[in-house]
Amino acid sequence: MNHPPSKPLAALPGGPLRGEVSVPGDKSISHRALMLGALAIGTTEIAGLLESDDVLATGAAMRAFGATVERGADGFWRVAGLGAGGLLEPEGALDFGNAGTGARLAMGIAAAHPFATTFVGDASLSRRPMGRVLQPLRDMGADVIARSGDRLPLTLRGAEAMAPIAYRVPVPSAQVKSAVLLAGANIEGITTVIEPVPTRDHTEKMLAGFGAEIEIEAGAGGERVIRLKGLPDLRAQRITVPGDPSSAAFLLVAALLVGGSDVTVRNVLLNPARTGLLTTLREMGADLVVGNERMSGGEAVGDVRARASRLRGIEVPPERAPSMIDEYPVLAVAAAFAEGRTVMRGLEELRVKESDRLAAVARGLAANGVVCEEGPASLEVDGGVVRGGGTVPTHLDHRIAMSFLVMGLAAREPVAVDDTAMIATSFPDFLSLMTGLGAAFREDAEGAKRAAAGTA
Ligand code: S3P
Repeated sequence: MNHPPSKPLAALPGGPLRGEVSVPGDKSISHRALMLGALAIGTTEIAGLLESDDVLATGAAMRAFGATVERGADGFWRVAGLGAGGLLEPEGALDFGNAGTGARLAMGIAAAHPFATTFVGDASLSRRPMGRVLQPLRDMGADVIARSGDRLPLTLRGAEAMAPIAYRVPVPSAQVKSAVLLAGANIEGITTVIEPVPTRDHTEKMLAGFGAEIEIEAGAGGERVIRLKGLPDLRAQRITVPGDPSSAAFLLVAALLVGGSDVTVRNVLLNPARTGLLTTLREMGADLVVGNERMSGGEAVGDVRARASRLRGIEVPPERAPSMIDEYPVLAVAAAFAEGRTVMRGLEELRVKESDRLAAVARGLAANGVVCEEGPASLEVDGGVVRGGGTVPTHLDHRIAMSFLVMGLAAREPVAVDDTAMIATSFPDFLSLMTGLGAAFREDAEGAKRAAAGTA
């Protein structure tokens, strides 16, 4: 897949951020809504779908499987599905771009259909490990032809008779859990997933919402056993996608760091499997207030208000990692401004995200004068006044780009990132929302050249 030309940008230190905004729909829920819509009989109607590159790639993939996926003039997305087991063989390769969630969950769907599906993606996705998903799918009977190390591009072919499995997920990953469950939905019999560490539960909730028989048993120490009865009659639903807490995170942290700020983000998903960052920031002394808590589409949502705060460094409990796994880059930026040391452990999964986020964050912090120590699965950040002035290589990673732009709003000197084009994978309106709150940015072609030459 070709990449759009890079768009380097610098964030400028400036005055307070103020206002009330909504962030776009949750990425995890948006992917799943399109997929379950395609597997259900009837027309699923989705309000608030995230219209980002990652999610649109999933929409295109569901179309390639034969579902009708359309955006109405009213802003609702409608998916006319084909029923579990009813998908058609795609004519070409499915291009998931930068989207790990889209690719891995769609592998679960494809694996249980007796035809060949080919998956391709951008340079970032083609580096990411797929074996974690392919292994259980092979156990169920699927055939895989992949590059060595189980990377994209790859082709999956489901067998005529697939077998349900009981699978203990070896890494804390909602994507692996979801791929196995989505495969299990198209296979007769009970598929069981055991997750020693709970991860986001949107797939389970949505399968139940579409009418699947799914049981969840909570075991000792947080372990969850999920049993799904295969070949359910999935019935089309109306889905309202709440605001993405992983996108809200950038606005909230920016408000905490820039003096005098007062920002409210409305309609944020508050599912406890996603709120680890809010808990952590509060422990650091953040003035974060949740109001208007309510249920929307089966999920807890609320409005989150952040006011500029003096933060202090803490030890982040490693068992909290799954509930804030995408938020460590922006937490590390918050830690850079906090008084004292922040210790983050249990971060091995950060090495296999859109980039090696642990290395990318450590490099970005160092480029801006922040003292930090990167371990194999840990990061320690010494906070204080942040000099800024660096240019950060983003490695096709949207969250690295947004995190360091947030840093630049509160540092002494501007902070540049070598590219912002990939922000559109998850949060296309990020820059305009931030600008509306009072943030200032400047194009930064020179900084990007220095970063590419390794001299930033
Ligand atoms: C996601 C799960 C997480 C997360 C990703 C979205 C999902 O990945 O990092 O952004 O929607 O299931 P892992 O399953 O690899 O932890």
